Amino acid sequence: AVKRVPLLAGNWKMNLDHLQAIAFVQKLAWTLKDADHDVADAEVAVFPPFTDLRSVQTLVAADKLPIAYGAQDLSAQDSGAFTGEISGSFLAQLDCTYVIIGHSERRTLHAEDDAQVKAKTAAAVKHGLVPVICVGETAEDLAEQGPSAVPVAQLTTALEGLDSSADIVVAYEPVWAIGSGQAATPDQAEQVAAALREVIRSVLGEDAAARTRILYGGSVKSSNIAGFMREPNVDGALIGGASLDVAEFSSIVRFQK
Ligand code: G3P
Repeated sequence: AVKRVPLLAGNWKMNLDHLQAIAFVQKLAWTLKDADHDVADAEVAVFPPFTDLRSVQTLVAADKLPIAYGAQDLSAQDSGAFTGEISGSFLAQLDCTYVIIGHSERRTLHAEDDAQVKAKTAAAVKHGLVPVICVGETAEDLAEQGPSAVPVAQLTTALEGLDSSADIVVAYEPVWAIGSGQAATPDQAEQVAAALREVIRSVLGEDAAARTRILYGGSVKSSNIAGFMREPNVDGALIGGASLDVAEFSSIVRFQK
């Protein structure tokens, strides 16, 4: 079986300006070093605001820090008259590895639909970025359709037309669990993650299903990470609030099964 390296990723959302980002990344690097953190055991990534990325790039490159990074969104377009948008090619030039796509806050506050998520996913792959495709049901969806229907439909559209060799990450974030303090249970996360892996298998094939990491997100903290990481189809976490505190984030990263 393919070994999937766990990915523990902090989505900063609209927090930490570029000076705070520099301090944060330095502290995180020291903490990981002190703890003898090995990237082969778990990969660490941060998703700062766009305006921080250049600073993070400089720090990571200068000291070869074992911290990956990416943006929280990108444009589906390459360049042109799109005021306020950021192209995947710009992110690639800043050595971003990842880019978050279709976060529930983008879907809700910026009316991003599955077609846009699909277009952005294709744009990310085209520019050599690994899309972290976010899917998840609202409390209402859960009550009406159960846990898997909406995430499965969202992912099915997002993956349409992708090459089977595309490197992707999927994040299952139930909307009701985001920032609510009410995480899903490891069981619930596993059930949906297994359904999402089936989607990957049917759209992109067996190899893609075996190698693609599926993350859980929604009120993850150091006290509940281990339960998620014990599940066979959960390969890491996308962490919001708890990723803004270096001590808390690094103890999540150093989870013990
Ligand atoms: O993308 C991560 C996020 O939506 C989860 O947020 O604060 O519940 O960990 P939080």
